Amino acid sequence: MSQKATIVVGGKSFEFPVLQGTENELSIDIGALRVVTEGVTTIDPGFKNTGSCESAITFLDGEHGILRYRGYAIEELAEKADFLEVAYLLIFGELPTRDQLQEFHSDIKEQSIVAEDMKKILDGFPQTAHPMGVLASLTSALVAFNPTSVNVDSHEEMYRAIVKIMGKFPVLTAWTYRKMAGLPLDYGDNSLDYVDNFLKMMFKKPQSEYKSNTVIKSAMIKLLILHADHEQNCSTSTVRLVGSSHAGLFASLAAGISALWGPLHGGANQAVIEMLEAIKEDGGDTKKYMAKAKDKNDPFRLMGFGHRVYKNFDPRAKIIKKAADEVLEDLGIQDPILDIAKGLEQEALSDPYFVDRKLYPNVDFYSGIIYRALGIPVPMFTPMFALGRLPGWIAQWREMRLRKEPIGRPRQLYTGATLRAFKDIDYR
Ligand code: ACO
Repeated sequence: MSQKATIVVGGKSFEFPVLQGTENELSIDIGALRVVTEGVTTIDPGFKNTGSCESAITFLDGEHGILRYRGYAIEELAEKADFLEVAYLLIFGELPTRDQLQEFHSDIKEQSIVAEDMKKILDGFPQTAHPMGVLASLTSALVAFNPTSVNVDSHEEMYRAIVKIMGKFPVLTAWTYRKMAGLPLDYGDNSLDYVDNFLKMMFKKPQSEYKSNTVIKSAMIKLLILHADHEQNCSTSTVRLVGSSHAGLFASLAAGISALWGPLHGGANQAVIEMLEAIKEDGGDTKKYMAKAKDKNDPFRLMGFGHRVYKNFDPRAKIIKKAADEVLEDLGIQDPILDIAKGLEQEALSDPYFVDRKLYPNVDFYSGIIYRALGIPVPMFTPMFALGRLPGWIAQWREMRLRKEPIGRPRQLYTGATLRAFKDIDYR
Protein backbone atom coordinates (compact mmCIF):
# COMPACT_ATOMS: atom_id res chain seq x y z
CA MET A 1 0.00 0.00 0.00
CA SER A 2 1.44 3.35 -0.93
CA GLN A 3 2.25 5.56 2.04
CA LYS A 4 1.71 9.27 2.48
CA ALA A 5 3.50 11.83 4.63
CA THR A 6 1.73 14.78 6.15
CA ILE A 7 3.40 18.13 6.72
CA VAL A 8 1.54 20.67 8.82
CA VAL A 9 2.46 24.31 8.23
CA GLY A 10 0.57 27.15 9.90
CA GLY A 11 -2.17 24.75 10.98
CA LYS A 12 -2.80 23.48 7.45
CA SER A 13 -2.01 19.87 6.51
CA PHE A 14 -0.43 18.90 3.24
CA GLU A 15 -0.01 15.33 2.02
CA PHE A 16 2.93 14.09 0.05
CA PRO A 17 3.62 10.73 -1.58
CA VAL A 18 6.25 8.48 -0.03
CA LEU A 19 8.36 6.75 -2.65
CA GLN A 20 9.88 3.34 -2.09
CA GLY A 21 13.18 2.22 -3.61
CA THR A 22 13.97 -1.33 -4.70
CA GLU A 23 15.81 -1.90 -1.40
CA ASN A 24 12.71 -0.65 0.49
CA GLU A 25 14.18 2.73 1.34
CA LEU A 26 11.49 5.36 1.83
CA SER A 27 11.68 8.92 0.58
CA ILE A 28 9.10 11.72 0.94
CA ASP A 29 8.51 13.34 -2.43
CA ILE A 30 8.22 17.04 -1.60
CA GLY A 31 8.34 18.10 -5.27
CA ALA A 32 5.01 19.95 -4.91
CA LEU A 33 5.75 21.48 -1.48
CA ARG A 34 6.48 25.05 -2.50
CA VAL A 35 3.52 25.27 -4.82
CA VAL A 36 0.89 23.81 -2.48
CA THR A 37 2.15 25.68 0.60
CA GLU A 38 2.61 28.88 -1.40
CA GLY A 39 6.28 29.41 -0.75
CA VAL A 40 7.46 27.07 2.02
CA THR A 41 10.73 25.25 1.32
CA THR A 42 12.84 22.78 3.29
CA ILE A 43 16.37 23.38 4.52
CA ASP A 44 19.02 20.71 4.95
CA PRO A 45 22.63 21.98 4.96
CA GLY A 46 25.02 19.34 3.67
CA PHE A 47 22.00 17.44 2.27
CA LYS A 48 22.14 15.07 5.24
CA ASN A 49 18.53 13.94 4.66
CA THR A 50 17.85 15.06 1.13
CA GLY A 51 17.90 12.89 -1.96
CA SER A 52 18.77 14.82 -5.09
CA CYS A 53 17.67 12.18 -7.59
CA GLU A 54 16.46 8.65 -8.18
CA SER A 55 19.32 6.45 -9.27
CA ALA A 56 19.70 2.82 -10.32
CA ILE A 57 23.51 2.69 -10.20
CA THR A 58 24.83 2.18 -6.68
CA PHE A 59 23.17 0.96 -3.50
CA LEU A 60 24.71 1.96 -0.22
CA ASP A 61 23.40 1.03 3.21
CA GLY A 62 25.57 2.91 5.69
CA GLU A 63 23.95 1.34 8.75
CA HIS A 64 24.80 -2.19 7.63
CA GLY A 65 28.02 -1.49 5.71
CA ILE A 66 26.62 -2.57 2.33
CA LEU A 67 27.87 -1.29 -1.03
CA ARG A 68 26.66 -2.69 -4.37
CA TYR A 69 27.20 -1.55 -7.95
CA ARG A 70 24.12 -2.34 -10.07
CA GLY A 71 23.17 -5.01 -7.53
CA TYR A 72 26.58 -6.71 -7.34
CA ALA A 73 28.30 -6.79 -3.94
CA ILE A 74 31.51 -4.75 -3.81
CA GLU A 75 33.30 -7.66 -2.12
CA GLU A 76 32.55 -9.94 -5.08
CA LEU A 77 33.46 -7.34 -7.70
CA ALA A 78 36.76 -6.51 -5.95
CA GLU A 79 37.66 -10.18 -5.87
CA LYS A 80 36.52 -11.34 -9.30
CA ALA A 81 36.16 -8.46 -11.75
CA ASP A 82 38.50 -6.39 -13.86
CA PHE A 83 38.29 -2.58 -13.70
CA LEU A 84 37.01 -2.18 -17.25
CA GLU A 85 34.25 -4.74 -16.62
CA VAL A 86 33.16 -2.72 -13.59
CA ALA A 87 33.32 0.51 -15.59
CA TYR A 88 31.05 -1.05 -18.24
CA LEU A 89 28.70 -2.36 -15.57
CA LEU A 90 28.39 1.03 -13.88
CA ILE A 91 27.94 2.98 -17.10
CA PHE A 92 25.69 0.64 -19.08
CA GLY A 93 23.97 -1.31 -16.30
CA GLU A 94 25.04 -4.91 -17.03
CA LEU A 95 28.28 -6.87 -16.87
CA PRO A 96 29.67 -7.06 -20.41
CA THR A 97 29.90 -10.25 -22.44
CA ARG A 98 33.39 -11.09 -23.69
CA ASP A 99 32.57 -9.47 -27.06
CA GLN A 100 31.10 -6.33 -25.49
CA LEU A 101 34.14 -5.94 -23.27
CA GLN A 102 36.52 -6.39 -26.16
CA GLU A 103 34.65 -3.84 -28.25
CA PHE A 104 34.54 -1.37 -25.36
CA HIS A 105 38.27 -1.72 -24.79
CA SER A 106 39.12 -1.45 -28.45
CA ASP A 107 36.99 1.73 -28.80
CA ILE A 108 38.69 3.20 -25.73
CA LYS A 109 42.11 2.43 -27.17
CA GLU A 110 41.19 4.07 -30.44
CA GLN A 111 40.30 7.25 -28.55
CA SER A 112 43.31 7.29 -26.26
CA ILE A 113 45.35 9.78 -28.29
CA VAL A 114 45.63 13.14 -26.58
CA ALA A 115 46.24 16.17 -28.81
CA GLU A 116 49.94 17.11 -28.87
CA ASP A 117 49.03 20.70 -28.03
CA MET A 118 47.82 19.52 -24.63
CA LYS A 119 51.50 19.09 -23.78
CA LYS A 120 51.97 22.84 -24.09
CA ILE A 121 49.29 23.38 -21.48
CA LEU A 122 50.95 20.86 -19.20
CA ASP A 123 54.27 22.59 -19.82
CA GLY A 124 52.86 25.83 -18.44
CA PHE A 125 52.49 24.36 -14.94
CA PRO A 126 55.40 24.45 -12.52
CA GLN A 127 56.70 20.99 -11.62
CA THR A 128 55.56 21.64 -8.05
CA ALA A 129 51.89 22.24 -8.99
CA HIS A 130 49.48 19.95 -7.17
CA PRO A 131 48.51 17.15 -9.58
CA MET A 132 44.79 17.49 -8.80
CA GLY A 133 44.85 21.09 -10.01
CA VAL A 134 46.76 20.03 -13.11
CA LEU A 135 44.40 17.13 -13.80
CA ALA A 136 41.28 19.28 -13.40
CA SER A 137 42.79 21.88 -15.77
CA LEU A 138 43.81 19.31 -18.38
CA THR A 139 40.37 17.70 -18.27
CA SER A 140 38.81 21.11 -18.77
CA ALA A 141 41.24 21.83 -21.58
CA LEU A 142 40.16 18.63 -23.34
CA VAL A 143 36.92 20.43 -24.14
CA ALA A 144 38.86 22.84 -26.36
CA PHE A 145 40.38 19.96 -28.29
CA ASN A 146 37.09 18.04 -28.56
CA PRO A 147 34.67 20.88 -29.12
CA THR A 148 31.55 19.08 -30.35
CA SER A 149 28.88 19.03 -27.68
CA VAL A 150 27.22 15.67 -27.06
CA ASN A 151 23.74 15.10 -28.37
CA VAL A 152 22.57 12.95 -25.50
CA ASP A 153 19.65 11.62 -27.51
CA SER A 154 22.14 10.01 -29.87
CA HIS A 155 23.36 6.70 -28.49
CA GLU A 156 26.32 6.94 -30.85
CA GLU A 157 27.45 10.39 -29.68
CA MET A 158 26.97 9.53 -26.04
CA TYR A 159 29.02 6.37 -26.44
CA ARG A 160 31.78 8.21 -28.32
CA ALA A 161 32.08 10.85 -25.56
CA ILE A 162 32.34 8.06 -22.96
CA VAL A 163 35.06 6.05 -24.70
CA LYS A 164 36.96 9.25 -25.47
CA ILE A 165 37.28 10.24 -21.83
CA MET A 166 37.89 6.64 -20.71
CA GLY A 167 40.77 6.58 -23.23
CA LYS A 168 42.27 10.01 -22.57
CA PHE A 169 41.92 10.29 -18.80
CA PRO A 170 44.56 7.66 -17.89
CA VAL A 171 46.95 9.39 -20.30
CA LEU A 172 46.32 12.75 -18.62
CA THR A 173 46.73 11.20 -15.15
CA ALA A 174 50.02 9.56 -16.14
CA TRP A 175 51.25 12.76 -17.82
CA THR A 176 50.40 14.74 -14.70
CA TYR A 177 52.57 12.35 -12.69
CA ARG A 178 55.42 12.33 -15.21
CA LYS A 179 55.52 16.10 -15.31
CA MET A 180 55.76 16.12 -11.51
CA ALA A 181 58.47 13.45 -11.56
CA GLY A 182 60.42 15.17 -14.37
CA LEU A 183 59.96 12.21 -16.74
CA PRO A 184 59.32 12.42 -20.50
CA LEU A 185 55.70 11.98 -21.54
CA ASP A 186 54.64 8.67 -22.99
CA TYR A 187 51.64 7.53 -25.03
CA GLY A 188 51.40 4.05 -23.61
CA ASP A 189 51.06 0.76 -25.36
CA ASN A 190 47.72 -0.31 -26.79
CA SER A 191 48.71 -3.97 -26.85
CA LEU A 192 48.33 -3.96 -23.05
CA ASP A 193 45.13 -4.07 -21.04
CA TYR A 194 43.72 -0.88 -19.54
CA VAL A 195 45.37 -1.08 -16.11
CA ASP A 196 48.72 -2.44 -17.30
CA ASN A 197 48.85 0.27 -19.95
CA PHE A 198 48.19 2.91 -17.30
CA LEU A 199 50.91 1.51 -15.03
CA LYS A 200 53.34 1.46 -17.93
CA MET A 201 52.48 5.07 -18.83
CA MET A 202 53.13 6.01 -15.21
CA PHE A 203 56.28 4.08 -14.44
CA LYS A 204 58.17 3.33 -17.64
CA LYS A 205 61.66 4.81 -17.41
CA PRO A 206 63.12 6.03 -20.72
CA GLN A 207 66.25 3.90 -20.42
CA SER A 208 64.66 0.59 -19.45
CA GLU A 209 61.92 -1.85 -20.38
CA TYR A 210 58.72 -1.79 -18.35
CA LYS A 211 57.89 -5.08 -16.64
CA SER A 212 54.37 -5.76 -15.46
CA ASN A 213 54.12 -6.90 -11.83
CA THR A 214 51.08 -9.03 -11.01
CA VAL A 215 50.96 -7.99 -7.33
CA ILE A 216 51.02 -4.29 -8.22
CA LYS A 217 48.52 -4.75 -11.02
CA SER A 218 46.00 -6.68 -8.98
CA ALA A 219 46.25 -4.21 -6.07
CA MET A 220 45.70 -1.36 -8.51
CA ILE A 221 42.64 -3.05 -10.04
CA LYS A 222 41.17 -3.57 -6.57
CA LEU A 223 41.74 0.05 -5.61
CA LEU A 224 40.21 1.34 -8.84
CA ILE A 225 37.14 -0.89 -8.44
CA LEU A 226 36.62 0.07 -4.80
CA HIS A 227 36.70 3.76 -5.74
CA ALA A 228 34.60 3.43 -8.90
CA ASP A 229 31.30 4.78 -7.56
CA HIS A 230 29.72 5.80 -4.29
CA GLU A 231 26.29 7.18 -5.18
CA GLN A 232 25.60 10.88 -4.51
CA ASN A 233 28.84 11.91 -2.78
CA CYS A 234 30.28 15.43 -3.05
CA SER A 235 32.16 15.02 -6.35
CA THR A 236 29.44 12.93 -8.00
CA SER A 237 26.75 15.41 -7.00
CA THR A 238 29.00 18.10 -8.46
CA VAL A 239 29.28 16.23 -11.76
CA ARG A 240 25.49 15.79 -11.89
CA LEU A 241 24.82 19.40 -10.91
CA VAL A 242 27.23 20.88 -13.44
CA GLY A 243 25.94 18.49 -16.10
CA SER A 244 22.36 19.48 -15.30
CA SER A 245 23.06 22.87 -16.86
CA HIS A 246 23.84 20.85 -20.05
CA ALA A 247 27.55 21.63 -19.71
CA GLY A 248 29.39 18.84 -21.51
CA LEU A 249 30.75 15.64 -20.03
CA PHE A 250 34.40 16.79 -19.85
CA ALA A 251 33.47 20.12 -18.20
CA SER A 252 31.29 18.31 -15.66
CA LEU A 253 34.12 15.87 -14.89
CA ALA A 254 36.62 18.71 -14.43
CA ALA A 255 34.31 20.17 -11.77
CA GLY A 256 34.03 16.73 -10.12
CA ILE A 257 37.83 16.45 -9.95
CA SER A 258 38.01 19.77 -8.10
CA ALA A 259 35.33 18.62 -5.66
CA LEU A 260 37.21 15.38 -5.05
CA TRP A 261 40.41 17.27 -4.21
CA GLY A 262 39.25 18.50 -0.78
CA PRO A 263 40.67 16.73 2.30
CA LEU A 264 37.18 15.95 3.59
CA HIS A 265 36.55 13.94 0.41
CA GLY A 266 39.09 12.29 -1.93
CA GLY A 267 41.96 14.42 -0.63
CA ALA A 268 41.70 12.43 2.60
CA ASN A 269 43.99 9.72 1.18
CA GLN A 270 46.85 12.23 0.96
CA ALA A 271 45.92 13.74 4.33
CA VAL A 272 45.97 10.30 6.00
CA ILE A 273 49.54 9.54 4.95
CA GLU A 274 50.69 13.03 5.91
CA MET A 275 49.05 12.53 9.30
CA LEU A 276 50.60 9.07 9.81
CA GLU A 277 54.01 10.44 8.79
CA ALA A 278 53.65 13.33 11.22
CA ILE A 279 52.74 10.92 14.04
CA LYS A 280 55.78 8.80 13.19
CA GLU A 281 58.09 11.84 13.12
CA ASP A 282 56.64 12.89 16.47
CA GLY A 283 57.69 9.62 18.09
CA GLY A 284 54.69 7.44 17.16
CA ASP A 285 52.58 8.45 20.16
CA THR A 286 49.12 7.52 18.86
CA LYS A 287 47.45 8.35 22.19
CA LYS A 288 48.53 11.99 21.87
CA TYR A 289 46.84 12.23 18.46
CA MET A 290 43.73 10.44 19.66
CA ALA A 291 43.46 13.09 22.36
CA LYS A 292 43.93 15.87 19.79
CA ALA A 293 41.20 14.37 17.59
CA LYS A 294 38.78 14.37 20.52
CA ASP A 295 39.66 17.88 21.71
CA LYS A 296 36.97 20.27 20.41
CA ASN A 297 39.42 23.20 20.73
CA ASP A 298 41.88 21.49 18.41
CA PRO A 299 41.07 21.51 14.67
CA PHE A 300 42.89 18.18 14.23
CA ARG A 301 40.69 15.33 13.00
CA LEU A 302 41.69 11.74 12.61
CA MET A 303 41.92 11.69 8.82
CA GLY A 304 40.52 8.56 7.20
CA PHE A 305 37.99 8.19 10.01
CA GLY A 306 34.28 8.85 9.82
CA HIS A 307 31.92 9.00 6.91
CA ARG A 308 28.77 10.91 6.15
CA VAL A 309 26.87 7.76 5.23
CA TYR A 310 28.64 4.79 6.85
CA LYS A 311 27.66 4.59 10.49
CA ASN A 312 28.85 1.03 10.79
CA PHE A 313 32.03 0.06 8.92
CA ASP A 314 33.03 1.12 5.42
CA PRO A 315 33.05 -2.20 3.50
CA ARG A 316 35.75 -0.81 1.21
CA ALA A 317 38.05 -0.19 4.18
CA LYS A 318 37.82 -3.88 5.18
CA ILE A 319 38.88 -5.02 1.71
CA ILE A 320 41.64 -2.42 1.49
CA LYS A 321 43.08 -3.21 4.89
CA LYS A 322 43.47 -6.85 3.86
CA ALA A 323 44.91 -5.82 0.49
CA ALA A 324 47.43 -3.49 2.20
CA ASP A 325 48.68 -6.39 4.32
CA GLU A 326 48.97 -8.65 1.26
CA VAL A 327 50.68 -6.08 -0.96
CA LEU A 328 53.27 -5.16 1.66
CA GLU A 329 53.99 -8.82 2.30
CA ASP A 330 54.16 -9.71 -1.41
CA LEU A 331 56.47 -6.82 -2.15
CA GLY A 332 58.52 -7.47 0.98
CA ILE A 333 57.96 -3.96 2.32
CA GLN A 334 57.88 -3.12 6.01
CA ASP A 335 56.15 0.19 6.41
CA PRO A 336 56.18 1.53 9.98
CA ILE A 337 53.18 3.75 9.27
CA LEU A 338 51.06 0.62 8.72
CA ASP A 339 51.66 -0.22 12.38
CA ILE A 340 50.73 3.31 13.39
CA ALA A 341 47.54 3.05 11.31
CA LYS A 342 46.61 -0.27 12.92
CA GLY A 343 47.35 1.14 16.36
CA LEU A 344 45.12 4.17 15.76
CA GLU A 345 42.33 1.97 14.45
CA GLN A 346 42.57 -0.34 17.46
CA GLU A 347 42.38 2.57 19.89
CA ALA A 348 39.56 4.31 18.04
CA LEU A 349 37.45 1.13 17.92
CA SER A 350 37.41 0.95 21.69
CA ASP A 351 37.26 4.68 22.45
CA PRO A 352 33.81 5.96 23.50
CA TYR A 353 34.30 9.22 21.53
CA PHE A 354 34.65 7.29 18.25
CA VAL A 355 32.24 4.49 19.20
CA ASP A 356 29.45 6.89 20.23
CA ARG A 357 29.82 8.92 17.03
CA LYS A 358 30.06 5.75 14.93
CA LEU A 359 33.42 6.78 13.48
CA TYR A 360 35.13 3.91 11.66
CA PRO A 361 38.04 3.83 9.20
CA ASN A 362 36.90 4.82 5.72
CA VAL A 363 38.22 3.71 2.32
CA ASP A 364 41.11 6.15 2.50
CA PHE A 365 42.55 5.09 5.83
CA TYR A 366 44.54 2.25 4.24
CA SER A 367 44.53 3.10 0.51
CA GLY A 368 47.49 5.49 0.84
CA ILE A 369 49.61 2.74 2.38
CA ILE A 370 49.05 0.63 -0.74
CA TYR A 371 49.71 3.55 -3.11
CA ARG A 372 52.95 4.21 -1.24
CA ALA A 373 53.97 0.56 -1.54
CA LEU A 374 53.29 0.75 -5.29
CA GLY A 375 55.73 3.67 -5.57
CA ILE A 376 53.13 6.37 -6.15
CA PRO A 377 54.07 9.73 -4.60
CA VAL A 378 51.69 11.15 -1.98
CA PRO A 379 50.31 14.10 -4.02
CA MET A 380 49.31 11.58 -6.73
CA PHE A 381 47.02 9.62 -4.37
CA THR A 382 43.95 11.71 -5.08
CA PRO A 383 44.45 11.60 -8.88
CA MET A 384 44.49 7.80 -8.50
CA PHE A 385 41.14 8.06 -6.75
CA ALA A 386 39.89 10.24 -9.63
CA LEU A 387 40.93 7.60 -12.17
CA GLY A 388 38.97 5.00 -10.23
CA ARG A 389 35.94 7.27 -9.81
CA LEU A 390 35.83 8.17 -13.52
CA PRO A 391 33.34 5.42 -14.55
CA GLY A 392 31.07 6.33 -11.64
CA TRP A 393 31.03 9.99 -12.60
CA ILE A 394 30.34 9.06 -16.23
CA ALA A 395 27.55 6.65 -15.25
CA GLN A 396 25.90 9.25 -13.01
CA TRP A 397 26.20 12.01 -15.62
CA ARG A 398 24.75 9.71 -18.29
CA GLU A 399 21.87 8.64 -16.05
CA MET A 400 21.10 12.26 -15.19
CA ARG A 401 21.06 13.32 -18.84
CA LEU A 402 19.08 10.28 -20.07
CA ARG A 403 16.44 10.84 -17.39
CA LYS A 404 16.16 14.44 -18.61
CA GLU A 405 16.58 15.75 -15.08
CA PRO A 406 15.93 19.47 -14.65
CA ILE A 407 18.73 21.90 -13.92
CA GLY A 408 19.85 21.63 -10.28
CA ARG A 409 19.01 24.79 -8.41
CA PRO A 410 18.57 24.59 -4.63
CA ARG A 411 16.53 27.09 -2.65
CA GLN A 412 17.75 28.96 0.44
CA LEU A 413 16.43 30.50 3.62
CA TYR A 414 17.44 34.14 3.36
CA THR A 415 18.82 35.51 6.67
CA GLY A 416 20.39 38.78 5.46
CA ALA A 417 19.36 42.42 5.80
CA THR A 418 15.86 43.48 4.84
CA LEU A 419 15.39 46.36 2.42
CA ARG A 420 17.47 49.42 3.27
CA ALA A 421 18.23 52.68 1.52
CA PHE A 422 21.54 53.14 -0.34
CA LYS A 423 24.04 55.23 1.66
CA ASP A 424 26.32 57.60 -0.17
CA ILE A 425 30.03 56.70 0.28
CA ASP A 426 30.62 59.84 2.40
CA TYR A 427 28.10 58.65 5.01
CA ARG A 428 29.16 55.03 5.50
N1 ACO B 1 38.06 12.83 13.83
C1 ACO B 1 37.52 13.33 14.97
N2 ACO B 1 36.22 13.63 15.12
C2 ACO B 1 35.41 13.42 14.07
C3 ACO B 1 35.89 12.91 12.85
C4 ACO B 1 37.27 12.61 12.76
N3 ACO B 1 37.79 12.11 11.62
N4 ACO B 1 34.89 12.81 11.97
C5 ACO B 1 33.79 13.24 12.61
N5 ACO B 1 34.11 13.61 13.89
C6 ACO B 1 33.18 14.08 14.92
C7 ACO B 1 32.74 15.51 14.67
O1 ACO B 1 33.62 16.42 15.31
C8 ACO B 1 31.35 15.51 15.23
O2 ACO B 1 31.46 15.55 16.63
P1 ACO B 1 30.33 16.31 17.52
O3 ACO B 1 29.05 15.56 17.26
O4 ACO B 1 30.83 16.20 18.91
O5 ACO B 1 30.29 17.72 17.02
C9 ACO B 1 30.83 14.12 14.86
O6 ACO B 1 31.99 13.30 14.77
C10 ACO B 1 30.06 14.08 13.53
O7 ACO B 1 30.92 14.60 12.51
P2 ACO B 1 30.45 15.48 11.27
O8 ACO B 1 31.59 16.29 10.81
O9 ACO B 1 29.19 16.19 11.65
O10 ACO B 1 30.09 14.35 10.25
P3 ACO B 1 29.91 14.57 8.70
O11 ACO B 1 29.03 13.47 8.23
O12 ACO B 1 29.50 15.97 8.41
O13 ACO B 1 31.39 14.40 8.12
C11 ACO B 1 33.41 13.48 7.31
C12 ACO B 1 31.89 13.24 7.58
C13 ACO B 1 33.62 14.77 6.54
C14 ACO B 1 33.93 12.32 6.48
C15 ACO B 1 34.15 13.53 8.68
O14 ACO B 1 33.97 12.32 9.37
C16 ACO B 1 35.64 13.84 8.51
O15 ACO B 1 36.02 15.01 8.44
N6 ACO B 1 36.51 12.77 8.45
C17 ACO B 1 37.92 12.99 8.21
C18 ACO B 1 38.17 13.24 6.72
C19 ACO B 1 38.02 11.99 5.89
O16 ACO B 1 38.53 10.93 6.21
N7 ACO B 1 37.31 12.14 4.74
C20 ACO B 1 37.13 11.05 3.77
C21 ACO B 1 35.70 10.60 3.70
S1 ACO B 1 35.57 9.22 2.62
C22 ACO B 1 35.64 9.89 1.07
O17 ACO B 1 35.22 11.00 0.81
C23 ACO B 1 36.26 9.08 0.08
